Amino acid sequence: MNQLIAPSILSADFGNLQRDVEMINQSQADWFHIDVMDGNFVPNLSLGFPVLKAIAAHAKKPLDIHLMINNPDFYIERFCTEAKAYCLTVHYEACTHLHRTVQKIKSCGVKVGVALNPHSSVALLEDILFELDLVLLMSVNPGFGGQSFIEQTFRKISALKRLIQTCGSNALIEIDGGVGLDNFQQLFATGADVLVCGNSIFASENPLETIRILKH
Ligand code: DX5
Ligand code: ZN
Repeated sequence: MNQLIAPSILSADFGNLQRDVEMINQSQADWFHIDVMDGNFVPNLSLGFPVLKAIAAHAKKPLDIHLMINNPDFYIERFCTEAKAYCLTVHYEACTHLHRTVQKIKSCGVKVGVALNPHSSVALLEDILFELDLVLLMSVNPGFGGQSFIEQTFRKISALKRLIQTCGSNALIEIDGGVGLDNFQQLFATGADVLVCGNSIFASENPLETIRILKH
């Protein structure tokens, strides 16, 4: 069973980004979760290649890059080479030709994930699941940190777990949005493999200790 923690850089202090990257390096966290927003697919902007390259230069753990952008195909190679993605996740809702996009990411030699918004059924992935390394279930509407967890996500985790087993897929289940000390145990118990945590880590008194608790 995987029980990975991926702190979300979106909630870091961007004026002290190197300090926060080093904190994650020293912590028991497993991945860096990095949110890229285009002000089009989601109603917010976050960061682009200059900041991604700076993070990649200091990060000592895999970069889990979550693209909340339309037309991700334009940038896939740059996210893999310049931004050094370990896993690149695109949104089902942003990709008209999802199979082609998935193949393009795979051809770059990085792991591939597909994200689903809260309203999108896991059944939509039935015919692509065997190609995927990860499925990201949004447990808030994408675009902002610090929102409340949508409880329906628990049912989606169980349904996705069954679908993964039926399809013989090895995809990990990642949960993103509103995850923290009050729900992480139940999420892992329901079948989540990777938990993204933004506010619950960076707004806590002691982020290193919060990560330690989330890991154990
Ligand atoms: C939201 C992003 C999340 C966000 C999570 O659109 O995809 O990764 O940073 O933040 P929290 O954990 O604060 O909900
Ligand atoms: Zn995210």
